[in-house]
Amino acid sequence: MSESKKTRWYKDAVIYQIYPRSFCDSNGDGIGDIRGIISKLDYIKDLGVTAVWLSPCYKSPNDDNGYDISDYRDIMDEFGTLDDWKEMLAGLHERGIKLIMDLVVNHTSDEHEWFKQSRSSVDNPYRDYYFWRKGRGKDGKKPPNNWTSRFGGSAWAYDDATSEWYLHLFTKKQPDLNWDNPKVRKEVHDLVDYWLDLGVDGFRCDVITYISKVAGLPNGKFNPIQCGDEMFTHGPHIHEYLSALNNEVISRYDAMTVGEAAGVTIEQGLLYTAESRGELDMVFEFEHILSEAYFSLLPKKFNLKQYKAIMSKWQDGMHGKGWNSLYLENHDQPRALGRCTGDYGDKRKEASKMLAVALNLLQGTPYIYQGQEIGMTNCDFSPDEYQDVMVKTILGIVKKYVPFLKPVALKVLKKKARDNARTPMQWDGSEKAGFTTGAPWLKINPNHTEINVAEAEKDPTSILNFHKNLNRYRVGNQTVKLGSYRQFDKNNKKIYCYERAHNGKKLLVVCNFKNAEVPFSPPAEYNGFTAAAVIQNYPTARTLSPFSLQPYEAVVFEVDC
Ligand code: GLC
Ligand code: CA
Repeated sequence: MSESKKTRWYKDAVIYQIYPRSFCDSNGDGIGDIRGIISKLDYIKDLGVTAVWLSPCYKSPNDDNGYDISDYRDIMDEFGTLDDWKEMLAGLHERGIKLIMDLVVNHTSDEHEWFKQSRSSVDNPYRDYYFWRKGRGKDGKKPPNNWTSRFGGSAWAYDDATSEWYLHLFTKKQPDLNWDNPKVRKEVHDLVDYWLDLGVDGFRCDVITYISKVAGLPNGKFNPIQCGDEMFTHGPHIHEYLSALNNEVISRYDAMTVGEAAGVTIEQGLLYTAESRGELDMVFEFEHILSEAYFSLLPKKFNLKQYKAIMSKWQDGMHGKGWNSLYLENHDQPRALGRCTGDYGDKRKEASKMLAVALNLLQGTPYIYQGQEIGMTNCDFSPDEYQDVMVKTILGIVKKYVPFLKPVALKVLKKKARDNARTPMQWDGSEKAGFTTGAPWLKINPNHTEINVAEAEKDPTSILNFHKNLNRYRVGNQTVKLGSYRQFDKNNKKIYCYERAHNGKKLLVVCNFKNAEVPFSPPAEYNGFTAAAVIQNYPTARTLSPFSLQPYEAVVFEVDC
């Protein structure tokens, strides 16, 4: 398909992210699966989303829950079969919902056939599919450089078979692919083509900004926590590799791509997403979740002024040139409630709805992570309840080198652990939350007795019903899709107020981020205009005149001008 025929359907989309392991278990083994997803297709349709991003469902030994792939062309045993997957795809498409698959090609599993071959001998044809180096020091027992894994510790593992080290930016079971080898690029092109040919509508490209490493793999600047970033983030050939992937394969289909891009700046974001360049359609930047590194353990307090400045920078910077992704949650981030709202007390519903309004009326493609639509929250784990390899790696390092810091590490993990977002989906208030009939692979949040889909469906004022209405309002709305963006009162630390304007229509979005009453006056230029409040999270009637916003109140006015 030529660039000009690309429909850019993603600009009208709302995307729902499914983390399959935690979504719905159809056979009682405690692990979510594809038939579980099939049983919820009507729920997804009813939510008013238009596409699904499915976290990895390929064959995997599950060291990092599927982000370690051992066969790119088949489905993980626990999740079902390729036929189940095809049935799911057909079911989505029948309902007018597109499917985005996760593309994890910075690394494979160490159980992938390529790596098994690669590690077997120095002259195996697959040797250069990965990065193998001799160690430093007299006996070669020191890693080849100072790069660290994103999960902590050295990014190199020693392999006895050939007495060399291989690179892994994530766990030891996730060796990095060597994209400088044209055969690796060809393999990736072929597997992308395989899934597009089966009918998928696009890809979320996992840690894609890490695929090109600086030649010679030199030491990175010393940093006590993470080293090497500047040697492999937005590396020397990244744009060349991405445009080849797009030109040779993806652009033959009407498919979209979104790249995970920790640490990306607006300038780099434009290089990746400018339509004229044909690389990616959008990136997930990390600035607004206040975590510039891949994973920042240092808890940063949410600061509305800073958040507004970051969102505004991306809104202005991308307008008319690239395209934004809009997200607060995914399977790697703790839940947004609490993180972006402070202590919300008994105002969970109001706070959750307000966050949705503040984000989803910006320009870009909104992503809703499973459970966000019912206001799921972080979970209180005891140390042995965590399942995430990242948590285990961090606690292992703490135990070995700084055991006295364990209480501090546990305190930080309580807030930051990825397991917070991965607890099973809360379908109902029964013992296993309607997720499984067996023993769930990860703790179910005890608050499922109150926070669950069944309750939310019954309650007209639920977060779920609010999301449904917001999605229906957004999809097809030209002001939201195309309108200009302007922020008001940027120094206000309590209220986020912005305008979207297009073709004689304006939307004024007003959101109170505090669990307190806050006075609000419409911007002066709105004086004399009449407006209708089209979205509200309180029943109180609002007009375009000064009033006191209730805790976490959100109001959207539509103004004809
Ligand atoms: C991405 C995924 C994360 C995974 C990592 C390694 O950041 O979102 O879950 O651990 O890549 O594949
Ligand atoms: Ca199952």
